[in-house]
Amino acid sequence: MSLTRKRSDLKKRTKTAAEGGGKEAVMKQKAVGKMTARERILAILDPDSFHEYDLFVEHAGKDFDMDKKYLPGDGVVTGTGTVSGYPVCIFAQDFTVAGGSLGWMHAKKITKIMDVATKLNVPLIGINDSGGARIQEGVNALAGYGEIFYRNTQASGVIPQISVILGPCAGGAVYSPALTDFVFVVNKISKMFITGPEVIKTVLGEDISMENLGGAKVHSEITGNAHFYAESEQECFEQIKDLLSYIPWNNTQKALRFQSKAPLTKQYKIDSIFPTNPRQPYDVRDIIKSIADGSTFLEVHERFAPNIVVGFGRIDGNTVGFVANQPLVLAGVLDIDSSDKAARFIRFCDAFNIPLVTFVDLPGYLPGVDQEHGGVIRHGAKVLYAYSEATVPKITVILRKAYGGGYIAMCSHHLKADFVFAWPTAEIAVMGPEGAANIIFRSEIKNAENPEEVRKQKIKEYKEKFANPYVAAAYGYIDAVIDPSDTRDMLVHALSISGQKSVHVFKKKHGIPPF
Ligand code: HXC
Repeated sequence: MSLTRKRSDLKKRTKTAAEGGGKEAVMKQKAVGKMTARERILAILDPDSFHEYDLFVEHAGKDFDMDKKYLPGDGVVTGTGTVSGYPVCIFAQDFTVAGGSLGWMHAKKITKIMDVATKLNVPLIGINDSGGARIQEGVNALAGYGEIFYRNTQASGVIPQISVILGPCAGGAVYSPALTDFVFVVNKISKMFITGPEVIKTVLGEDISMENLGGAKVHSEITGNAHFYAESEQECFEQIKDLLSYIPWNNTQKALRFQSKAPLTKQYKIDSIFPTNPRQPYDVRDIIKSIADGSTFLEVHERFAPNIVVGFGRIDGNTVGFVANQPLVLAGVLDIDSSDKAARFIRFCDAFNIPLVTFVDLPGYLPGVDQEHGGVIRHGAKVLYAYSEATVPKITVILRKAYGGGYIAMCSHHLKADFVFAWPTAEIAVMGPEGAANIIFRSEIKNAENPEEVRKQKIKEYKEKFANPYVAAAYGYIDAVIDPSDTRDMLVHALSISGQKSVHVFKKKHGIPPF
């Protein structure tokens, strides 16, 4: 065969394989508002940067007449490319080919690109759109998942791993995204569950739709399995690109430095955001925006456990991870979900060399039988563990309340924050003045002629004594009591001198966090 004929043969084969499951299957995909696997990859990557591999891989199934079937690329597209010039490895399951189901060779393609990602030390993006384990391939499909899960775990904390759920992600398949760092979902398109509505109906007799069982809203608001929610695939892809701009390629690098930008202080003015009445709530995201470069903040887990806010911003051009109690929701208490959310974010930042900036304003951990029986002790301990374990620069600013366990947990000096600043409005105490006065002056109040008056007097006394930052400052637990308008300058300085921070860590295989 001449070179010309070989070229045209290659073209023909490439065209056939790249057509995926064919026109009808593609039309079905589009009819439910979904893009194809290749369209998705091209929409995420920089123009002309995608290089596909293993296009001609064939499936290994033999049973149930599978040996007579042609499954182009075995239902998954894999390759490398760039996002804003950033190298990435990527795979996208192709639902038009056997429902994107995962057979042995499909899994081999995924594990191969995962191995490339860990070898080249670049982020991995996985787009999930699949009916799960390819039923006809039996245990080989299960083996494939196992190989993926193993690699997800090995790569954890080494390269950023991003999962995008753009279709069904059913059965054990959910565990690969669950092992990765960030999960993106899209309204009405993403569906994640271990057992689907039919099984639930059979086993439990309960009726539930796929959307209500494991749709995008469920996972971004209730379960916390998803970190980013979008209304459309395109919006989701923009979120991924935005996220990648804040995080480093791997755990040996720092995130890219950007030009420093002043915050938009006219829109986000601390004096207008922060209420004079200490009982009044405010949106801590506005405080973050009053301090971050360009007032830009990429919130992670925005819809889940909103009593704590976590996300990325920049200070003087460098990425920082913000962790802040949100007084707008449940007064910013720590509870089971907010502890999980914060701990996970802190560990990501620590693994990827992103300094942590913590804003504190909370009355403590949430009381209640549900919380106690749900394991708030175990979950709350995750925050203590994550902050204590983190060796990146840790700067804390106490804005208002820092009571009880909340004071300790929110990156106090005792968990080895590098700098702890407090606004003059800070109140650092074992508990709020009302609760404290009721306990320590119980008998005085009870035996008084006018108990209510005495109670008020004792609350006032307690407030005067402890509801300020100066007692903690007197013990050196606060490094500086600062004017709120100086916060950004203090953070810029503290972060710039913390660049070479080094911490002695005990030699061990690994710690045992309260998972
Ligand atoms: C083989 C599959 C498949 C699968 C779908 N297909 N899932 N083939 N194995 N797991 C095929 C269908 O037969 C069909 O082929 C094509 O993909 C499109 O599927 P449809 O059903 O027509 O699509 P739709 O109506 O959109 O429904 C999508 C779906 C449904 C909800 C995902 O297909 C479904 O329920 N699939 C099974 C889900 C499941 O139970 N998976 C196994 C989970 S157990 P044709 O040829 O007709 O086009 C698991 C264990 C892993 O994953 C454990 C790891 C630890």
